[in-house]
Amino acid sequence: MDANTIRQKFLDFQVKKGHKIIQPAPLVLEGDPTTLFTGSGMQPLLPYLLGKEHPEGKRLCDSQPSMRLQDIEDVGDSRHTTVFEMLGNWSLGDYFKEEQIRNFFEFLTKEVGLDPNKIYVTCFIGNEKYGIPKDTEAAEIWQKVFKEAEVEAKIAEIGSAAEGDKRGIKPGERIFFYDDKENWWSRGGGCDTTPIGDPCGPDSEVFYDFGEDKQDEEKYGLAHPASDGARFMEIGNQVFMQYRRNEDGTFAELEKKNVDFGGGLERIAAAAIGSFDVFKISLMKPIIDKLEAISGKSYETNTDEMRVIADHIRGAYLLAAQGLMPSNKTQGYAMRRLLRRAILRALDLGISDNFLAEIIPIVAKNYAELPDSILTHRENALGVMLKEETAFRKTLSKGLRELHKLSGRKENTQKLSGYDLFKLQDTYGFPMELSVEECYREGIELSEKYLEEFKEALKEQRERSQTASKGMFKGGLEDHGEQTVKYHTATHLLLAALQKLVDSGICQKGSNITADRVRFDFNLDHKMTPEEIKSVEDQVNEWIEADLPVVFDEYDKNFAKNTLKAHGQFWNKYPEKLKVYTIGDFDNPISREVCGGPHVEHTGLIGKFKIKKEESSSAGVRRIKAVLE
Ligand code: ALA
Repeated sequence: MDANTIRQKFLDFQVKKGHKIIQPAPLVLEGDPTTLFTGSGMQPLLPYLLGKEHPEGKRLCDSQPSMRLQDIEDVGDSRHTTVFEMLGNWSLGDYFKEEQIRNFFEFLTKEVGLDPNKIYVTCFIGNEKYGIPKDTEAAEIWQKVFKEAEVEAKIAEIGSAAEGDKRGIKPGERIFFYDDKENWWSRGGGCDTTPIGDPCGPDSEVFYDFGEDKQDEEKYGLAHPASDGARFMEIGNQVFMQYRRNEDGTFAELEKKNVDFGGGLERIAAAAIGSFDVFKISLMKPIIDKLEAISGKSYETNTDEMRVIADHIRGAYLLAAQGLMPSNKTQGYAMRRLLRRAILRALDLGISDNFLAEIIPIVAKNYAELPDSILTHRENALGVMLKEETAFRKTLSKGLRELHKLSGRKENTQKLSGYDLFKLQDTYGFPMELSVEECYREGIELSEKYLEEFKEALKEQRERSQTASKGMFKGGLEDHGEQTVKYHTATHLLLAALQKLVDSGICQKGSNITADRVRFDFNLDHKMTPEEIKSVEDQVNEWIEADLPVVFDEYDKNFAKNTLKAHGQFWNKYPEKLKVYTIGDFDNPISREVCGGPHVEHTGLIGKFKIKKEESSSAGVRRIKAVLE
């Protein structure tokens, strides 16, 4: 049974049990100060879990694309991925433990067809400090359920995961009690770290047993459900959300008790095919197969690299398909990081040419069944990702050239130092690890202390930038180049605001920028009213606050003019190839102008925009003077 089938079966099953399907939330969150991405199915439902009525009723379900970048370093093992789908169902003050446990067990054993003998479960042991009782109710329900399925199910009190690593499991045991590090759920983790105001509660997790030989006891200790070893894999978590954390740190019972169930689609799909390796499921394997074909290497010998590449491209695709652009800030930076890590790991496999164009269509096909309401920009995903790949490869080859230049300049007796490597990384974006590899490959001698030197250089740079930012707040230390660049981008926003709010026929007639102000001339047949001036100023500031990405690329003149509809003053004087700057969403931009640059990378850097003066410049031409405060 493949993952797309399991997703559909889950939704159908929940509908049969009286649930309404709700639209999943976007993966990329806007304006949420606590988190950049949706990381679980319950996140969009927080207000309802705290008591607000949901328009769709008390029984809800969905499949929520989720991203957990905190797991990025774990990707490479058999089960961690940065992006995954969480199958979810919720009871908002309706059914509770018994119906949830029975339903999920039925889904796993009857719908997916898992062997009940391979299912193991955990429950909450209680917490004395906060007076929260042991969840014997859940354990007793499980005992009944296993008995009906004719599966032996003894209960074991484990406590902490570390104790479990020493103790392992005894014959016949199937239901395990753990402490709040394992079996308490809140967005912040255990009882002590539950965020104030958040809903939370004991949970009961469900595991699949992939067999004793998968454990690796030397590394992880004896097998038990909460072990990090690969014998048991968590495939679902049923949170009994019956508490809320008070201001004073204690826990209060919620008036309405909820169930918050989340199960990883990828992991359930892995259990369904009996593979402890999630990279063998239908959403992953075609990507791995393609990587094998492109690199000529096998997954068996290059497991880590291929897992990281498959995971990261999948993550970046889901972000791009929701309209995110790579940038140097927040979510855009996360996307850039995923793509760059994938490209670097591909280099380890010997893939040094563009390869995303061969992988992305496979990922897109895997996700063809996700609704358009989530993947609003799927048509553009390929283009956005390929552009980033090309740009990063340029950076890499430039870095390589610089490395050889640097080593060529050294006398025979001198070695390349960590400071040199730092310069390559800092100035050319060429990662230190790649420099080291290239040096080995080419027999370029490296200083023995290159790592220490590199760290030293990094530290010095941090100190420098701290001093600079302190100075910035005092005012005056910022260099003029930087200030001019901000004015430059503000000028593009000013023209766009004038066209949007005053007259769509407005063109730039001239502009002059210094580090202290911009002077901007444009055609208009009347003196701007104070209301017009205010609305233009407010609009520019709104775009600045929205922190829009500013991107550029080179295009053919004809394409820039007729397809991209870029704004330009001198079409008949421009060369055949020209640079175009776009601000905002690439397909529906705020501003798009032919321009040599440079510009800030995102508008949030500009500061506050203020129009100081609007006056006549010559017949039919007005002039605005504006400053950044
Ligand atoms: N919200 C629960 C989780 O993320 C289901 O595990």
